[in-house]
Order: sequence, then C-alpha cells, then structure tokens
Amino acid sequence: MTARDCVTLRPEGPLKGEITAPSDKSISHRAIIFASIGKGISRIRNFLRASDPMSTLNAMSALGVEIIDNIDEIVVHGRGLYGLKEPEDIIDCGNSGTTMRLLTGLLSAQKFLSILTGDESLRQRPMKRVITPLTEMGATIYGRKDNSLAPVAIRGQQLRPIKYRSPVASAQVKSAILLAGLYIAGTTTVEEPSRSRDHTERILPTIGASIEVEKNRVSIRGPAELSRLDITIPGDFSSAAFFLVAATIVKDSEILIKNTLLNPTRTGLLNVMERMGVSFEILNTSEVSGEPVGDILCRFTSQLKATEIRPEEVPSMIDEFPIFSVLATQADGVSVIRGARELRVKESDRIGTMTSELRKLGAEIEELPDGMTIKGPVKLKGAVVESHGDHRVAMALSVAALVAEGETKIEGISSVEISFPGFYEKLRDLVS
Ligand code: S3P
Repeated sequence: MTARDCVTLRPEGPLKGEITAPSDKSISHRAIIFASIGKGISRIRNFLRASDPMSTLNAMSALGVEIIDNIDEIVVHGRGLYGLKEPEDIIDCGNSGTTMRLLTGLLSAQKFLSILTGDESLRQRPMKRVITPLTEMGATIYGRKDNSLAPVAIRGQQLRPIKYRSPVASAQVKSAILLAGLYIAGTTTVEEPSRSRDHTERILPTIGASIEVEKNRVSIRGPAELSRLDITIPGDFSSAAFFLVAATIVKDSEILIKNTLLNPTRTGLLNVMERMGVSFEILNTSEVSGEPVGDILCRFTSQLKATEIRPEEVPSMIDEFPIFSVLATQADGVSVIRGARELRVKESDRIGTMTSELRKLGAEIEELPDGMTIKGPVKLKGAVVESHGDHRVAMALSVAALVAEGETKIEGISSVEISFPGFYEKLRDLVS
C-alpha cells in the first residue's frame, strides 16, 4: 500500500442524477478469450478496461493473438481453435481468478506448455476445483501444494469427454471445462449444485458451439469451429450494486443507473432488495448481444426490513455480499446469510474481512462458517478501515462511510482499479 492509497469520506448526499455502470467484467473476459479462438476479425464494444479483464487481454496477446485497442472498440484477430502459440514466459493473471481458471481450461487443450501465476491473493485461491476435472479429462497440470495452488504449469493434451458433477456452483469451473470441451470429440457435461452465471453458455452458441442447457447441467458437443464475435458489453450489475445500495441508504437520494446487465443469474440482489422493501424500478428493458439489459431507478428507502438469504440464492448474488452486508446494517431486524462458504475464497475471505471492518464502524455482525448474521438498524460511526486488497470490500466500505457519523478512512483503495476505475469520481458526481 502506498502512502496515498486511501480515501477519507464523510456522510454525504443525497445521491442524485444518472450514471452508467462500467462494462461487465465477466463478459469482458469471455469476449476476449472467445474472440481469440474464433476465426476472423472480432469486434468488442464497451470492453472493461480495468485490471482484471486487462490480465485476460494481455494473456491472450502472450499466446500470440493480435489485439488492437481502437478506443471505441477492441479488435481481435482470431487465430481459430488451433492457432494459439506457446507463450515465451510465465503468464501473470494478476488478481483475476476468472483469467486463471478459464485459461487453465483453454490451455489444457493446447499442445504446448504454459505457466500461469498471479498476485499474492490469487496464489492463495483454490485451483484444485479446475485442476481435478481437467486432469480427469487427460490434461497434465502441476501446481503448488499438491496441485492446489498457483503457479500452475499446464502441458496440454488430446483430451477426452467427461460428465463432471462440480461440488461448487462456479461459473469459472463450468467455463474452464466447457472451453476444454470445445476441443473434444463427443459430449462434455458439467453439472453444478445450483446455477452459476451463464455468460459462457449464452455467447458460445452465437459463434458456432453446440451447447445444450438443462437446468443446472450444461453440455458441449465438440470439436467446435468458432466464428468471429461481434459483441456490445452491457454495464456490470455487480458494479451498479454499490450505487443501488448507496441510493437506498442515503437520505433523499434518487439515481438512475443506465444500461445495466439484468441477467437473472446475476441479479439475485434485486430479489433480496425487493423483500427488504427497497424502492426501485426497472425501466427501458431490451436485449443487447443476447443479454437482458435495462435502467434501474433507485430511491432512498427509510424502512428497510432484514432478510434471510437462502443458500440457493447465493450464486446469483455471489459478488454482492460485501455491499449486501452494508445494506443489512441499515435494515430492521437480523439478516442472515447461509450457504455462502464460497465467500471465504474470493479476492479476500469476504466473511472475515466484512465482519472485521464493519465492526470497526460499529456494526452488530457475527461470523458463521458459511455466512454472517447482521443486526440492524445501527447508526455507524467513522473509523479507519482496510480493504484487504479486495476491490469489492473497498467499495462496500466506501458506501458505508456515506452513512457513518464523522470521518471514515478507507485504506487500500487502489484495489478498486480491478473492476471499477473511476468509482470515486462517479460517487463524487452523484453527491455534488
Ligand atoms: C466469475 C464468476 C464468479 C465471480 C467472479 C467472476 C466469472 O466466481 O465471483 O467475480 O466471471 O465467471 P465463481 O465462478 O468462482 O463463483
């Protein structure tokens, strides 16, 4: 952390006006990867130029793909399924779990050696969840700590199809297996305990992959031949969520968040907010590049009700728990999160980090092995808090600061660049 890697915020507001959330991170990663292995020149509009998707872009360049940033669009000279080259060096995935896990799947089918590493956080995150099924498919993969942690070394092979029942609902695991499945003659199937985000299975069929979805099961029939991709990426609901909650809890706020992804595998927080009595409206719905999008109008809500998050709701709001926990501190009653053990292995242990940091602000919050309980409403009090290098923790604490008495200093805010460059500027625009 540098000397200036912090911000001091005071209660401010109301939030008023219109914003557009930054482009969707998950779709940005996938657009670059799929375009790279498609045939021909692909065009990606509204790509998220934040450090996570840039890790994917740089990785695909290192694999021999020509990618040109024309400001208004990213142009990818796709090399087809078999045109990637052995990278000359170790590929650095930065902080990005999506980059590392999806590429482990893709590289398992390439007949060359690749080594993937990442930052301190990523090198602690579980990789066995992709290494196990890919090894079962025939890939040779080595990792630290008994093949469970990065760096990972992948020697690609001719793979065989499997039917894999994943113990975790994870779009990263599902996508890694589907990427490998593109190269395999026959049907590769992944089943998950509940449905994770479905961007991979939405995009791949539009460029020629044969994919079948049945409840929580996705199958791919290969080998595929992918064509070029032409895609416009909508605003990221997970980024919009910080402003949705800010407008809900800061008195007299009313904001319009435009052009946001409304894919139901991502918007679990909206169902939860509805139960809590939050006042919001969905306007101008349409479909953009196969994804539902719309504007969200959100207002301050004075009487928020606590709620219980059911385990089956967890995947559709998996990235929203840091900001949900802030919302819950302002709701009447005890909010309970269960079945969310996955939060322990995100960019930080989000159960531990949100509990310890919100407590510093006076929240009544208890850790559970697979979730938390949060009692509200509580008048938060300013304090010095820490992001633990986690972008979503930094932004959630910044929103909490808007309703905390006095000054709150948030340390480690450079992590915000991972998904939301310009977050503080947008916040400032809305409160001024
Ligand atoms: C992502 C999937 C989720 C999510 C992450 C992005 C993706 O992870 O938390 O921020 O783009 O596939 P899991 O699939 O591991 O739950």
